[in-house]
Amino acid sequence: MGGGDVCKAMGGCSLAYRRGEKRLWNLPSARNTKFLLWCCIALALITLACRSSLSSFAGITNRSAVDAADRLARSRKGYTLLMNTWKRYDLLKKSVSHYASCSRLDSIHIVWSEPNPPSDSLKEYLEHVIKMKSRDGKEVELRFDVNKEDSLNNRFKEIKDLKTDVVFSIDDDVIFPCSMVDFAFNVWESAPDSMVGFVPRVHWPENSSNKGEYYTYSGWWSVWWTGTYSMVLSKAAFFHKKYLNLYTNEMPASIKEFITKNRNCEDIAMSFLVANATNAPPIWVKGKINEIGSTGISSIGGHTEKRARCVNRFVAEYGRMPLVYSSVKAVDSRTLWFW
Ligand SMILES: *[C@@H]1O[C@H](CO)[C@@H](O)[C@H](O)[C@H]1NC(C)=O
Ligand SMILES: *[C@@H]1O[C@H](CO)[C@@H](O)[C@H](O)[C@H]1NC(C)=O
Repeated sequence: MGGGDVCKAMGGCSLAYRRGEKRLWNLPSARNTKFLLWCCIALALITLACRSSLSSFAGITNRSAVDAADRLARSRKGYTLLMNTWKRYDLLKKSVSHYASCSRLDSIHIVWSEPNPPSDSLKEYLEHVIKMKSRDGKEVELRFDVNKEDSLNNRFKEIKDLKTDVVFSIDDDVIFPCSMVDFAFNVWESAPDSMVGFVPRVHWPENSSNKGEYYTYSGWWSVWWTGTYSMVLSKAAFFHKKYLNLYTNEMPASIKEFITKNRNCEDIAMSFLVANATNAPPIWVKGKINEIGSTGISSIGGHTEKRARCVNRFVAEYGRMPLVYSSVKAVDSRTLWFW
């Protein structure tokens, strides 16, 4: 880094720098030495500032600033955790217990599609855990949305008396640190019509003479390689509650039937729905996923072909491809080193 950069970073010493400039290449004078000395001090200060902000991020010092930010965050409205689950009670307990400790959580809705209603012991356990974990005795409401029919569409059923504007849709087997969830929530607040999530996917047009217009569906590798995505999956995403309403009441019944029958692709359908409503791409937030369960449908063979079939089916239903590409990735600037 040159002296000019330091001056730019400081924002204040540019005049002094310019005045010294003319004579910088002459024999060292007292003034130039002084100038260089100041630059050294400035650099040292910047380095110190960076280190202290880093350590405060790591929770070592500066607790009061973090607490103040927390208090500010809590005075605003929070989000509802919308969790889909199926007969995996230990995972359910683990993830509810984790998210209950996140500061901006307002309530928890568990989408229940099993033939038997949730047992009293499970309810009691979860209520107890939520009370224990929630910050400062804040009341986090727990509700089971019990469904008669077993369908993946249940996951996006309209919730009539939802207190928050936004839901954080999550599978029962994925855990993100609360700091990342809070950050994603911040991103959503900046773009409340968008779907904001941690798991990007992408579709690609394919030219093959026999299939006509056909799209493929690609996972993580393709997103990583191209830096491009067009969907974020609802296994970990924020979106406005109006989309639950649209999904339940406006989306073509044929799409919902297709999803119930195939037991797949409700998340792609949600991506289509939001893209069609906004004509805009979703927003991918950087985050480290921790999958606590072992297998989901995505680890079954032939998965991407099935997903591609869904994409093409939905394109046919919509009469166009609504998904929009993006290469934006939202990153928490506190975790970055310099700028
Ligand atoms: C795909 O086919 C269309 C016409 O059928 C053509 O205009 C387009 O350039 C082709 N795209 C690629 C990537 O080959
Ligand atoms: C897509 O969006 C348009 C315009 O908002 C709307 O009229 C149409 O019903 C939507 N299509 C589907 C399949 O939801």
